[in-house]
Amino acid sequence: MDHVSATSEAKISAAPAFRLETIDDVGMLIIDTPGERVNILSSPVMQELATRLDELHARRDLKSLIIISGKEGNFIAGARISEIENLRDPREAAQKAALGQAVFDKIAALPMTTIVVISGACVGGGLELALACDFRIAHDTDKTRIGLPEVRLGIIPGFGGTQRLPRLIGIQRSLEYILTGKTVDAKRAYRSGIADRVIPAEFSFEMLRSIGHAFAIEARSPELRRKIEARRKRANAQSLLLEKNFIGRKVLFEQARKQTRSETKGHYPAPELAIEAVEKGFPLDLKAGLAIEAELAGRAIASEVSKNLIGIFYLTEEIKKDKGAANFSGKTQTFERIGVLGAGIMGGGIAQLVAHNDLPARMKDINYAAVAKGTEAAAKVFSEGVKKRRLTPHDMQNKMALITGTVDYTGFHRVDLVIEAIVENLDIKKKVFAELDGLVPAHAILASNTSSLSVTAMASATKRHDKVCGLHFFNPVHRMPLVEVIRGERTSDETIASMVAFAKKLGKTPIVVKDAPGFLVNRILSAYLAEASRVLQEGYSIEEIDEALVHFGMPMGPFNLVDEVGLDVAAKVSHIMIEAFGARMNAGEGLDKLAADKRLGKKNGKGFYLYQGKEKNVDQSIYQFLGLNPSGAKLAKSEAQERCVLLMINEAALCLSEAIVRRAHDVDAGMIFGTGFPPFRGGLLRYADTLGVNRVLERMEHYANKHGERFQPAPMLVEMKAGEKKFYL
Ligand SMILES: NC(=O)c1ccc[n+]([C@@H]2O[C@H](COP(=O)([O-])OP(=O)(O)OC[C@H]3O[C@@H](n4cnc5c(N)ncnc54)[C@H](O)[C@@H]3O)[C@@H](O)[C@H]2O)c1
Repeated sequence: MDHVSATSEAKISAAPAFRLETIDDVGMLIIDTPGERVNILSSPVMQELATRLDELHARRDLKSLIIISGKEGNFIAGARISEIENLRDPREAAQKAALGQAVFDKIAALPMTTIVVISGACVGGGLELALACDFRIAHDTDKTRIGLPEVRLGIIPGFGGTQRLPRLIGIQRSLEYILTGKTVDAKRAYRSGIADRVIPAEFSFEMLRSIGHAFAIEARSPELRRKIEARRKRANAQSLLLEKNFIGRKVLFEQARKQTRSETKGHYPAPELAIEAVEKGFPLDLKAGLAIEAELAGRAIASEVSKNLIGIFYLTEEIKKDKGAANFSGKTQTFERIGVLGAGIMGGGIAQLVAHNDLPARMKDINYAAVAKGTEAAAKVFSEGVKKRRLTPHDMQNKMALITGTVDYTGFHRVDLVIEAIVENLDIKKKVFAELDGLVPAHAILASNTSSLSVTAMASATKRHDKVCGLHFFNPVHRMPLVEVIRGERTSDETIASMVAFAKKLGKTPIVVKDAPGFLVNRILSAYLAEASRVLQEGYSIEEIDEALVHFGMPMGPFNLVDEVGLDVAAKVSHIMIEAFGARMNAGEGLDKLAADKRLGKKNGKGFYLYQGKEKNVDQSIYQFLGLNPSGAKLAKSEAQERCVLLMINEAALCLSEAIVRRAHDVDAGMIFGTGFPPFRGGLLRYADTLGVNRVLERMEHYANKHGERFQPAPMLVEMKAGEKKFYL
């Protein structure tokens, strides 16, 4: 099946989605689904298309048919997600895919030449429709994105994509599209043989119809057809050669499987089902291939993983819509000039992000060596982008020119926003906030990147309490999507809404969090890490525990994570958590001792693991150092997992009842986008819903009997049981 609608709810409308215009012997089928921003292939739209195609089949007067969108900036955004989100029966889901295939088969069977003109998003079902046409021409604008992103929703292309794409551009290239879900622009689509011609961006949307018409006439020449055919083959000549023979194909599929497995660790079924669809279908005729595709698409659609990934899609849509302050209806502030205070790990990263989004970043540190370090860190991130061809060297130069450095506050009298990322020390931060308050314009917002300190306390050092908040980025800034926008006691709605809008402008996913120790993500993580430490103290090994949590789906195990964060930093945060929440966050003195012994983690090559070049092995000396004796007894993987994850669920329930965040959505977004909590599980609280509150409580009780109070369930969980409630409706 096909991708996804940005709008999830169908607006039932009797108005037609298609209209046919003709100029001599060229037909123009225009898709413009009524009342919607983008074209979505819902069931009624597909039925209407089928009827239109039946009529067209009988039109002997037409020699060519052009399919084009009536909406500027969008071709087709895929199928309607809400139609599959509740399908749990694989056979029913397969039938739905087969129905879609049958409609696109009608396009392929039309007696006239078919040409699709693509401008704007052409994804999922949109591309599958285009693949059923004879020719595709694509408009080279920023909005044109072409691809098959189904795997991102845990499904596979099911309207012919796994069969028609490999027959057009070869197996290897099509697997790149199908397995990664990547989308490409018009030029790349041309290079890979999907598009047959690129229409330069200079041509307006209004001109596309006449360009399509001219191409339709041109495409009647057998010579042009031969040329296009030859170019498609040339585009993928090397891989097509390999794919010609059975052995070559076998190698290719084996490699694809191996790589997929190493990336998904077996947690995501869709990519493997997609490989199976291509492998089994490719040698057969198209009809047989499509039957295989439908069956496998049905299995993917019905899977739990797909339901969870669709849940995350909705969650992201919710966050896109959320303004951060329900009662604020005014205009948010805009930011032309940004000051960044501190040019360390975070300051350098934040300046890079700001400049990447074409805004000037004025970076201040206490000496030039530090400023240079931050600037170099930013340049390194841009260079990676150039290497990966996401950026030209010229772009990089322009963006780097937006980052300027200073050791005094010159330039700060003109900034609209300061993001502070200096040392984690409240007294110093308060002093700096007081300085800033006297320097920056009255309208400017002061935001701290603190991971643990009170934003309200920082605000108290200024006379602009309403314009002070937290803007908590995660490390590395350019990779981590989450930003916690921290609302201090007196932060205004306008400031919060402005920061939420700004974080989105930077391409991040913001959640609004109350000013409380650890905010949301670090607090939940602290409960998790403390439990991992206790499991370690019971005589289990570092590898066992890390493996257990990786097996659960976390991107890395807890000890690996602490090594990445730094044991000194983790120890400091742990103290703040213990002070705020008491014994349940206290796992003893291990971290302090290790940090005092300069076992700081990855940054100095020695933490729970030893880092030598690319090698990473558990530092066996740690057990003796901590007076531990790993018993060698194999811990049931499920126990380490269960204990750590249950305590995260419990902490999240406490956070919700304390209104640290407003909704379960925010918890799940925070954990997925801030810690990499496994998306296939749908998020921490969606996972809790999957387990069911009865099961969560039963297991909490089991561990409370063994380990005591920290497994006492949050009152909210108990109430949920009584009311038979879930976190999500
Ligand atoms: N490192 C992380 O993973 C991470 C993640 C999220 C948030 N944070 C938070 O971000 C902040 C910065 O952390 P970091 O890891 O980048 O620290 P860092 O030590 O790498 O950098 C801090 C920089 O601030 C500079 N500095 C100190 N006092 C200053 C002053 N008065 N004016 C200007 N510059 C000053 C220092 O010279 C240093 O270059 C802290 O509040 C930290 O809690 C860190």
